[in-house]
Amino acid sequence: MKISLVSTGLITIAIAFVHAADVTYSVIAFPGSDKVGVQVAGQDYPLQRSPMHANLFTGIAPFAAEYRYTILNSQGQAQPEETTRHLDNAATTTGNEFFGRSKTVYDIPALPRAYNPIYPALASDMDRDNEIATLILRANMDAIQEFLDTPTAEHNFAQVYNMTYINHHTVYNFENAGLKNAGQSSKDKGKQSYKVKFNKFDKSTKKDHLFGRRAFKLRAGATDPTLIREKLMMDSLSASGVATLNSHWVRLFINDEPFGLYLMTDDSFKGFTDNLIHGGEKMNSTGVTIKGNAMDQDTEANLVYNGPSAANYDHNDVYILEDKGRDPTISKENYMAPLIDFMDRLSKTVIGTDAQTPGTITDLMDSAEHTMIHAAMSFLAGSWDGFWYQASNYYLNQNRETKKWYLITYDFDETFGNGLEDIELMTTPYQNYQRPGSKRPLIDVFIKSPYYEPKFQEILKTLIKRFYNPRVIKPRLEAWTAMLKEDIAWDRSLPFRSPGDKEKFTVNDLNNALVTVGSRMGVLEWISNRTSSVCQQLNFNDTDDLPALPSA
Ligand SMILES: *[C@@H]1O[C@H](CO)[C@@H](O)[C@H](O)[C@H]1NC(C)=O
Ligand SMILES: *[C@@H]1O[C@H](CO)[C@@H](O)[C@H](O)[C@H]1NC(C)=O
Ligand SMILES: *[C@@H]1O[C@H](CO)[C@@H](O)[C@H](O)[C@H]1NC(C)=O
Ligand SMILES: *[C@@H]1O[C@H](CO)[C@@H](O)[C@H](O)[C@H]1NC(C)=O
Repeated sequence: MKISLVSTGLITIAIAFVHAADVTYSVIAFPGSDKVGVQVAGQDYPLQRSPMHANLFTGIAPFAAEYRYTILNSQGQAQPEETTRHLDNAATTTGNEFFGRSKTVYDIPALPRAYNPIYPALASDMDRDNEIATLILRANMDAIQEFLDTPTAEHNFAQVYNMTYINHHTVYNFENAGLKNAGQSSKDKGKQSYKVKFNKFDKSTKKDHLFGRRAFKLRAGATDPTLIREKLMMDSLSASGVATLNSHWVRLFINDEPFGLYLMTDDSFKGFTDNLIHGGEKMNSTGVTIKGNAMDQDTEANLVYNGPSAANYDHNDVYILEDKGRDPTISKENYMAPLIDFMDRLSKTVIGTDAQTPGTITDLMDSAEHTMIHAAMSFLAGSWDGFWYQASNYYLNQNRETKKWYLITYDFDETFGNGLEDIELMTTPYQNYQRPGSKRPLIDVFIKSPYYEPKFQEILKTLIKRFYNPRVIKPRLEAWTAMLKEDIAWDRSLPFRSPGDKEKFTVNDLNNALVTVGSRMGVLEWISNRTSSVCQQLNFNDTDDLPALPSA
């Protein structure tokens, strides 16, 4: 027992901190038949399996500033974790931790906002950036093995009997979801990406969701040695005030086997854009979402009008029906009609006059600024398989009341110098940031317009001064690499489960967040060099001398 004397004016109060048996310890572990405990002041206290999940162990033990979890074998011998954990003085619970990781919640420097949110997003832990959550599945392994063995073939969802999501402060249980491998080129990798759909094997009308999501993806990041790029890009879009998919890191276990570290991101489901654009409110006005994709230089979702017939567009590969939203008139057969109308009107859009003039881009896009910011970030991050450079990896979602559209770009493994063949893209001015001969009508209306081009330049300047610069990004990358390194080391030690490309990264490749490794440019180096060339071209520096952002 510890007694402190607190003097409050005339009265002195004695406060007794009763630290005996008053902390709830909680840890996720896979001890097999052994037991799990916590070691406090040299003494072992057993923990019990939680009713929430058999791999979550909790119990009450005395407070101590330092503690470790241990595995207790049948002879009663304790094998403690390698590193010592620390508890704040006032703590009465550790939150849910993970055995063998030295820390659970990290201090990650915030990204300053460049703009206030243009649309309200549903606030949730989906975009958490300071801890790694854990996802534990009990699933039909035979079905999973089928898509692991032949990932590029067509497969049905595998039944997930039980799924438990555990982060620091919550545990959620789900039954009868579905799991499948996901993506296009990602299926050619030794580490697969997955999608999870709730209630896929549930005959009831129950509608499970996690953070308001009825589906999500687990992105393997098989080409990114850092697993940081996609998360950094999504958080950057968010700090830029635009609608973006949300994400956070999770470690994945299926039937007690470790599958590795993944980025959990949004996936589409009915009206998924409601979460990103309408604060999670189900909007009757939410219409069709079309996904733009590129197959090659000549087959890309460039939004060039090619006549009124859907047959003139490679719509099965290039303009893909992602989600019907709440538009009962949309079908697989007719979904190209609203997009063709969009492309027709885009081809007739007046370039160069202000937003109030009829026939300008604001008749078509709900927000010119929102569209320009997505384009600006695509350029700044060198998202070479993205919306601008490759006319790929974006959603266009229609508001069926106003008939206007929202652009949301996504898929950011190949950013910040990753997989870049043409290193010159790093210094290319925005005026030349496209393949020779390619057409980008939804970019031209901004960068070739005497009205919008200065606004576009102002956006580049604001993003760079506010946060898109090495001064702000470096401490964030350093904090993230410290947070991820134990889980990256774990991930890199696991076997590949599928045929295909087995690029063998090690935990040292995590340095690629900061510096160039081999021919792969460092995330920070990309940001540094990209920023300095834009500053030079537009004649400003990255000092944040802008007036304070108005309160939202
Ligand atoms: C899922 O887990 C719960 C609690 O552990 C258990 O009661 C239930 O039977 C499990 N469901 C399935 C389908 O295995
Ligand atoms: C939603 O739109 C449909 C027509 O598309 C209409 O029939 C329905 O009444 C609308 N619902 C609400 C709640 O406004
Ligand atoms: C980035 O800029 C620095 C300083 O100008 C230069 O030394 C370095 O080579 C550049 N990196 C790349 C990949 O071009
Ligand atoms: C950055 O530019 C501002 C003018 O916008 C200037 O006042 C300032 O001195 C510059 N800072 C540096 C470090 O060059």
